[in-house]
Amino acid sequence: MADTSPLLPFSHSLGPGSTYSSIRWRSKIVLLLVFSGLFLVPLIVSIASNDNGFKQHVQYLQEDDQNVSFSPPKETTKPQILRPGSRGVSAGVSEKANVNLKGAQEKGYPQNDSMLSWQRTSFHFQPEKNWMNDPNGPLYYKGWYHFFYQHNPHAAVWGDIVWGHAVSRDLINWFHLPLAIVSDEWFDINGVWTGSATILLNGKIVMLYTGSTNESVQVQNLAYPADHNDPLLLKWVKYSGNPVLVSPPGIDPNDFRDPTTAWYTSEGKWRITIGSKANNTGIALVYDTEDFINFKLSGVLHGVPGTGMWECVDFYPVSKTGQNGLDTSANGPHVKHVVKTSLDDVRKDSYALGTYDDKTGKWYPDNPEIDVGIGIMLDYGMFYASKTFYDQDKGRRVLWGWVAESDTEVDDVKKGWASLQGIPRTILLDTKTCSNLLQWPVEEVERLRLKGKEFNNIEVKTGSVMPLELDGATQLDIAAEFELDKKALESTAESNVDFSCSTSGGAAQRGALGPFGLLVLADDSLAEHTSVYFYVAKGNNGTHKTFFCTDQSRSSVANDVKKEIYGSYVPVLEGEKLSVRILVDHSIVESFAQGGRTVITSRVYPTRAIYGAARLFLFNNAIEATVTSSLKIWQMNSAFIRRYSNEQ
Ligand SMILES: *[C@@H]1O[C@H](CO)[C@@H](O)[C@H](O)[C@H]1NC(C)=O
Ligand SMILES: *[C@@H]1O[C@H](CO)[C@@H](O)[C@H](O)[C@H]1NC(C)=O
Ligand SMILES: *[C@@H]1O[C@H](CO)[C@@H](O)[C@H](O)[C@H]1NC(C)=O
Ligand SMILES: *[C@@H]1O[C@H](CO)[C@@H](O)[C@H](O)[C@H]1NC(C)=O
Ligand SMILES: *[C@@H]1O[C@H](CO)[C@@H](O)[C@H](O)[C@H]1NC(C)=O
Repeated sequence: MADTSPLLPFSHSLGPGSTYSSIRWRSKIVLLLVFSGLFLVPLIVSIASNDNGFKQHVQYLQEDDQNVSFSPPKETTKPQILRPGSRGVSAGVSEKANVNLKGAQEKGYPQNDSMLSWQRTSFHFQPEKNWMNDPNGPLYYKGWYHFFYQHNPHAAVWGDIVWGHAVSRDLINWFHLPLAIVSDEWFDINGVWTGSATILLNGKIVMLYTGSTNESVQVQNLAYPADHNDPLLLKWVKYSGNPVLVSPPGIDPNDFRDPTTAWYTSEGKWRITIGSKANNTGIALVYDTEDFINFKLSGVLHGVPGTGMWECVDFYPVSKTGQNGLDTSANGPHVKHVVKTSLDDVRKDSYALGTYDDKTGKWYPDNPEIDVGIGIMLDYGMFYASKTFYDQDKGRRVLWGWVAESDTEVDDVKKGWASLQGIPRTILLDTKTCSNLLQWPVEEVERLRLKGKEFNNIEVKTGSVMPLELDGATQLDIAAEFELDKKALESTAESNVDFSCSTSGGAAQRGALGPFGLLVLADDSLAEHTSVYFYVAKGNNGTHKTFFCTDQSRSSVANDVKKEIYGSYVPVLEGEKLSVRILVDHSIVESFAQGGRTVITSRVYPTRAIYGAARLFLFNNAIEATVTSSLKIWQMNSAFIRRYSNEQ
């Protein structure tokens, strides 16, 4: 009964709902999978490697199970043998560089110069060249957003860390400035590490940062602008009495780093927290100060057993009304407090919502079962060492996060750069669920939107892949909505209650009610594509649970890049459609589900789906339910990111 011609293009014109840019949308629908009864015809593309690179084999297999895929379910290449690098760890911080493939130099995929140069992004912040990691000291001052970052000015690998500096009027277009803080004193000679800015009551700025000393231990140092009249804050002075803080008794001086922005207490003092660990319990130490020179340890804000070292702790209030961002010192019955930690052991940023007691300096999670480090991740993909700041100009809280590479260090060196920052995100409490934050790209990124195209009520049948015709697909802002066929949703019996994005086989593994979504950075043959999708599981009591995932396993034919499947549960409330916003910018894909309840950032390194060959597809790999999708898609302009000169 199975249709043996799985590539079956035909014309399809949409109804009158399709209006936008005066384009009457006509599209070829490629039904890669047509099946009836028990028999399915999957298209299996297997990729085999040899010493000269890759050969692609296309096979049509007949299978009698439901594991249909529109793309290779397995790679025939040997599993990657990964060995961790050790530069960061031996220097006393987390591993910074990506794991290297064993023998990557000899056996790695031969990405040529046009592939490597395509990977550089067009509207994400990155230095002109060389290495970047954590965001540092973000702030708004005299009309400028300031951004500092962990930077190796000498190479595209971690090491020789100092503070890079850039300024912007809008968080999107940037001017690179000279290095702000360099390592030239015994208290930071092995590295000017991560820190945060505090704007004092008189408008002056203080910067606290971790220094790696001449003895390679971690201390906290104070710096401040040499001239507060300079809106560019070009020159920074280190306090002559540095360090202002060394690790307390019982705390390993290699586990004492990343001071936060200070907040004001009811006693009229400033309070900060610094990440550490006690045995394997991740903790945030609390210090009080009046002058940023003398500090008093006042206890532990919070700790969670088994979570290991807490790096880059962030602590801030969010409004219970969910309307505006709040100054870091805001407190009272109208706020909840967020604790965020960067989990050194697993390299993920986790947060929890809770209540802060100003008197005791302690914070309590709303739900201890989803405490910091064991519950919600800020981003389920590649996103680490994040930090927020309060933008007093626009009354919002903005999140920055480091998006590392997941290719080999060898390729980073060839590219001459490594790492990006995610598009800054506004942070609000989700007042509908009250159990998570909402993260959303700052509104300024929308100014980069060029030509838009709208697709309305496109029906995506079970087991199908459908191209979306665009003029280009490497710089996109996509807003998509999906609705599962209601009858199928009701009639489906219990399905896939044990689903998990990372272990349930990715976008090629079919279930009754998913996966369905988009294939970004895909080539025509789908040899390469990154799947961003929903998956609905149904309990025998009729309840649904929705997951949001990104599957990178077929993102590139290169065998030497990481291809994890990321994702997690996403809350979907009664009456809500499924929705996703995706920013595609060459080698980065940032995806925000349900208004930013669950977020996934990926780094991908296609070799074929690049330049004009990149395409965008809708797909529905559900077995039982048709999906209806409406989308708005904008081409994105490049941001203006260059060196500052006095004429500006
Ligand atoms: C699908 O594939 C998985 C893993 O390869 C296998 O365990 C399962 O039996 C297959 N069939 C169905 C119907 O899921
Ligand atoms: C890189 O390889 C691609 C695909 O083989 C080819 O089209 C392109 O011209 C190559 N570029 C360079 C600079 O060699
Ligand atoms: C590090 O610098 C401090 C302050 O100058 C000095 O007392 C100490 O001896 C130095 N340690 C080493 C190993 O040079
Ligand atoms: C760490 O564990 C050891 C041995 O179990 C114990 O003696 C010590 O008190 C613990 N340290 C802290 C800071 O909890
Ligand atoms: C319904 O079933 C799911 C999956 O078995 C379970 O997680 C959930 O708690 C159940 N909900 C109710 C209201 O019983």
